Amino acid sequence: MLRTHTCGELRTDHIGQEVTLSGWVENIRDHGGTVFIDVRDRYGRTQVVTSPEEGQEVLAVAESLRGEDVVQIRGVVARRLEGKDNPKLATGQIEVRATNIHILNRADTPPFYPHQEEMAGEDLRLKYRYIDLRREAMQRTLLLRSRLIKAMRDYFAEHDFIDVETPILGRSTPEGARDYLVPSRVHWGKFFALPQSPQLYKQILMIAGYDRYVQIARCFRDEDLRADRQPEFTQLDLEMSFVDADDVMGIIDGLMVRLARDFLGIELSAPLPRMSYDEAMRRFGSDAPDLRYGMEIVDCTELARQTAFRVFRGAVDAGGHVRGIKVEGRAGEFSRKRIDELTDFVKNDFGAKGLAWFRVEPDGALWSPISKNLEEATLAGLKQAFAAQPGDLLLLLADSWEVTCKGLNGLRRRLAGELQLYNPSDMHFSWVVDFPMFEFDHDLGRWVAMHHPFTAPLDEDLSYLSAAPQRCRAKAYDLVINGYEAGGGTIRIHDAQVQQTVFQLLGLSPEMAKERFGFLLDALRYGAPPHGGIALGVDRLVMLFAGLDNIRDCIAFPKTQRAMDLMTEAPGEVDPAQLHELHIQIEPKPITK
Ligand code: AMO
Ligand code: AMP
Repeated sequence: MLRTHTCGELRTDHIGQEVTLSGWVENIRDHGGTVFIDVRDRYGRTQVVTSPEEGQEVLAVAESLRGEDVVQIRGVVARRLEGKDNPKLATGQIEVRATNIHILNRADTPPFYPHQEEMAGEDLRLKYRYIDLRREAMQRTLLLRSRLIKAMRDYFAEHDFIDVETPILGRSTPEGARDYLVPSRVHWGKFFALPQSPQLYKQILMIAGYDRYVQIARCFRDEDLRADRQPEFTQLDLEMSFVDADDVMGIIDGLMVRLARDFLGIELSAPLPRMSYDEAMRRFGSDAPDLRYGMEIVDCTELARQTAFRVFRGAVDAGGHVRGIKVEGRAGEFSRKRIDELTDFVKNDFGAKGLAWFRVEPDGALWSPISKNLEEATLAGLKQAFAAQPGDLLLLLADSWEVTCKGLNGLRRRLAGELQLYNPSDMHFSWVVDFPMFEFDHDLGRWVAMHHPFTAPLDEDLSYLSAAPQRCRAKAYDLVINGYEAGGGTIRIHDAQVQQTVFQLLGLSPEMAKERFGFLLDALRYGAPPHGGIALGVDRLVMLFAGLDNIRDCIAFPKTQRAMDLMTEAPGEVDPAQLHELHIQIEPKPITK
């Protein structure tokens, strides 16, 4: 090794020892002949001192150093001068008096410094990722990621899971996003698809008798990106045989208890709380509700049925709902301008037609520009429904069920953040269960699978499968942490006949089903055990455990929102000869104004 110790290791016990450190120059301070250098590596920082006592030669080298140069320093550990301790630094009581400085490599002036106070813009950080990754915060997150993955592997090994790698080059798998395709050179006009998940392979492994499978799996989805989504991401993927939903959730409960204890110092009690999808939509308007705070939805549809007020009555007559939330005691913080902003927010982001609002006056009266349109009884009914107290603000949407869900969920999340209704270090873990099997896609004009087409219906809903698909619920469960979907899974169909019926409902003819998933349908006929599983988003888990809100900060080399790697400039153009070998021609790009 080109060092005897790391830059985070030396303490007062080492005083008097001769040591060698290697690292990056973080900081140089020239105090008239005495030069202080902070040397950094991933373990920490150590102050190095050169003064005329150590000789002119060392001093000259020290004076020539610049930020991010890579150096090897030999010297003697000394106690810092009285009053010069740095309590923020693990090595803050000592310094190394340099007897020799060897420049291992000079650095050009970087576009930004890893330790600079104001962080560089994200594009610059991603382009020069190697410098960004030197930042302490990035190193802390990637270390957490590595330790979390190790803890997961340990846990599953203890529970008899077998780690099996599944192919990256395969057939299209149906998780509902667009595939990334890889052209085949050998087979003219044919393509591999990168896996959206190992879903089909893990089911095949169950049929093959492996009983408990786990994998830290890379998945690829060409979909619209958001702060919590990447085109290439990592799942903790698992599948189990001879289980029901409780067994799968139980295994994840155990994992969460362990991870929360070891990484957050939080004692969770298992089983984690569960809520049905219907209840989640009713109370929070979201299938991944943030349960760190209240502000539950209040349904006033029945009340609205009684009023003559056009906005409320019209929505109910059209089959819609009138629902709202209450901001407790904070009405004074809502100016007209702020309420107008919220109105624009629900209109623009969720397609709401408007936002009705009421302020509860000191005498208990509901004040609103629309109060004059409402009967006394309706106002009294609203007050009662919300248990409204002076100082409260009521926000209501009169719209379709979907718009009230989306809009109120949006308002709830936004206001909880703005009004700081929860402690950012709080963590809430729960399950949402019994999702609908299908949702109707109006663009496609047909049912689509809410999770994926291999999900089993609840036994008691089996008869709805053909007769009333909208009522059919699934053996599906999502793990929700702080309002994020951290994982999702289902019990699978293990019967070829039921699987065919579901394919049919999803508009897949037997021929198409055979074409795409023939191998699975075949396998289901050769002795398939009842099985089910789940996948957790590893990047999202790291984000939540690190208390971050951007998934890109949890991945060493992420893609931008526009699905690009700015450092390598991927995707890039390829050599025409490569395209020729693949029998691919690129259409000319349409001219856009
Ligand atoms: P699902 O599609 O719900 O299920 O994915 C499981 C979990 O993976 C994470 N995730 C993502 N993370 C980052 N970027 C993305 N683009 C992204 N997409 C999903 C989420 C999600 O909860 N095969 C099934 C699992 C199963 O049924 O066993 C599946 O992939 O945290
Ligand atoms: P209008 O008569 O359409 O201007 O609406 C009167 C008030 O009701 C305005 O404050 C609107 O923001 C509000 N409003 C209109 N449509 C809705 C709706 N669908 N849900 C809730 N409030 C609405």
